[in-house]
Amino acid sequence: MGNTAKFEIDGKTVELPVLRGTDGPAVVDIRKLYAEADVFTYDPGFMSTASCESKITFIDGDAGILLHRGYPIMELAEKSNFLEVCYLLLHGELPSAPEFEVFEKNITYHTMIHEQFDRFFMGFRRDAHPMAIMTGAVGALSAFYHDSTNVNDPAQRMISAHRMIAKMPTIAARAFKYSRGQPFVFPRNELSYAENFLRMCFSVPAEDWVPNPVLTRAMDRIFILHADHEQNASTSTVRLAGSSGANPFACIAAGIASLWGPKHGGANEECLNMLTDIGTVDKIPEFVQGVKDRRYLLMGFGHRVYKNYDPRATVMQKTCHEVLKEVGAENDPILQVAMELEKVALNDPYFVERKLYPNVDFYSGITLRALGFPPEMFTVLFALARTVGWIAQWKEMIEDPSQKIGRPRQIYTGAPARSFVPVDKR
Ligand code: CMC
Repeated sequence: MGNTAKFEIDGKTVELPVLRGTDGPAVVDIRKLYAEADVFTYDPGFMSTASCESKITFIDGDAGILLHRGYPIMELAEKSNFLEVCYLLLHGELPSAPEFEVFEKNITYHTMIHEQFDRFFMGFRRDAHPMAIMTGAVGALSAFYHDSTNVNDPAQRMISAHRMIAKMPTIAARAFKYSRGQPFVFPRNELSYAENFLRMCFSVPAEDWVPNPVLTRAMDRIFILHADHEQNASTSTVRLAGSSGANPFACIAAGIASLWGPKHGGANEECLNMLTDIGTVDKIPEFVQGVKDRRYLLMGFGHRVYKNYDPRATVMQKTCHEVLKEVGAENDPILQVAMELEKVALNDPYFVERKLYPNVDFYSGITLRALGFPPEMFTVLFALARTVGWIAQWKEMIEDPSQKIGRPRQIYTGAPARSFVPVDKR
């Protein structure tokens, strides 16, 4: 392939530059197409459109590869920890030991939230979905931290990133506690990120909370698996919201809203509901037939980018087994249903032909439930972990000199221009 592509329309030829990244398909740069050929391109759902340049995450969906700053997700999940991955996503390199110490301290010392902030929770109904609380509460952060909302100041950008990574577990745990009618638990600086979060969720004043290293490690790994995933719906939402210069807290709230949908972050909750509804292994054939009859989707399967096994699903499946063993639930009937359903789907031509493989959400619901979370908290945990990806992508966009406000165009298929008709003549 050459360095230019020729586009021909109505006898006119326009030469367009071809750009190449480190990896992945070449990209035809169509920025000047409209000016030179007076046409738009049409790509709803962004099937063939790169919306930005990024150095953060690379996915090869055909090969089932996911890299953060070049490092494979499997290695990060096995050998790193979530805060180290946060540093990597934000700064581009793994931290040295002193750099990590400073970063960890920064995050740890931003975990508390303004005392007045707690009143927001009281305004929600007891039965509010915790994602509804997250969308509102995270947006409200911009009303409290005015000293880190100037997007043009690099220091403020970094403080807002630290604040969001640090405060998200505190807000998520409060949303959970509120729904349970239990008192809020304050963060403890001597605990690790994952340990602190689990304690804020599961400790009660009536008894001491004892950390479990297997469950803490599993929580940390689940955070790593969800940390970033390049230009998905919620990340693109954060970038688009931020392209107008909106403050980072408001942009992350927009990302949370987008994540909530059942085709995106809401899939883990839907997937566990689906497995619970199937209930027993003998009901699988009937369920699979319903998918083939297009009455419903097999949740936790399929992906816009992965046309192979989602590498996150491999780690999640292993984590699932570890957690269930630790809590003594290896024979959980829902796990048996999931394993058998996966086997059936992977051998069924309907799924094979469409290249539908398990994604990260297939085993995450079972794992999170075994950790003690109810289904409505699953997407909240996804949002908590994805916050670093959103903020790293937002920062990268603001710091990109070619950044412009996002403004897609359209094919207008409505009524042509016409004159207003008074009501008595319609
Ligand atoms: N179950 C049954 N059929 C499916 C599924 C599924 N989960 N996913 C896709 N298909 C079929 C779809 O009906 C279509 O068939 P046909 O070509 O005969 O019309 C074909 O596969 C291609 O699907 P598509 O809808 O064009 O693919 P997409 O890239 O637009 O959608 C997706 C990707 C993730 C939205 C979709 O696979 C889906 O809805 N999956 C279930 C929800 C889910 O698990 N989401 C989590 C994604 S991973 C976590 C995250 O990133 O948030």
